Amino acid sequence: RAIPDPYPQRRPVQVVAHRGASEDVPEHTLAAYRKAIEDGADALECDVRLTADGELVCVHDWRVNRVSNGRGAVSSLELADLAALDFGSWKGRTTDPEAPERYGDARRVLTLHRLLELVADTDRRVELAIETKHPTRWAGQVEERLLELLRRFDLDAPPPGEASRVRVMSFSSRSLRRVRLGAPALPTVYLMQYVSPRHRDGRLPAGVSIAGPSMRILRANPGYVARLHAAGHLVHVWTVDRAEDVELCVRLGVDAVITNRPGQVLAQLGR
Ligand code: G3P
Ligand code: CA
Repeated sequence: RAIPDPYPQRRPVQVVAHRGASEDVPEHTLAAYRKAIEDGADALECDVRLTADGELVCVHDWRVNRVSNGRGAVSSLELADLAALDFGSWKGRTTDPEAPERYGDARRVLTLHRLLELVADTDRRVELAIETKHPTRWAGQVEERLLELLRRFDLDAPPPGEASRVRVMSFSSRSLRRVRLGAPALPTVYLMQYVSPRHRDGRLPAGVSIAGPSMRILRANPGYVARLHAAGHLVHVWTVDRAEDVELCVRLGVDAVITNRPGQVLAQLGR
């Protein structure tokens, strides 16, 4: 089965900021992404969920309790409800004391629309890895709204001869299929927490271009990277925070490491 390589010119390992520079600054805030860009991250990872009034917001958990001073499911709150919450104080003092001054508000909920604006306004190439969450709850609406936004920013397909700036990730192959139906040229990443027997040989659901195994999978089974590569998939690993994990990923030749500490990982890589 021949799967077109979405990045025909193999590049050195990409450093992807997981929820922004989320070790230093509250995750998924504009400040966390601004810091990741300043740190030199090649790409930004974000999770998206749909609010009750149909807005895609960058929030990881199904409810807001952990990362804000509010309570309740994202899907039962409207954007205005979320905008009234504090998404930063839970983290206490950021490990970068200058963060609020340098990167702006680290307390407001971030919409995907605003994150796309940030990427568009950045004067160097920054890629986006967008993960669809709770795709079954809204049966297609997350992907529909996502594609609508990407179209608006002209990011739903790579410009001719260029690699895509956006890729969509999910643990749900059904969600990725919906994305490919609406945007066939957009690379998709199949996330794996464990390797199911049908994917042991390195082959993934039809049409998926990139494998997204957890670091735990790689530690237990480093040979899996070679099998995924042999099956034609790039390999993007999460979450790679420890120096020895970065080292292992480089040794195995993975294509991207997704990390909460992009600045430190880039320094370790000598970039
Ligand atoms: O980048 C993939 C990784 O983010 C998947 O796990 O739970 O952090 O969304 P999670
Ligand atoms: Ca994620």
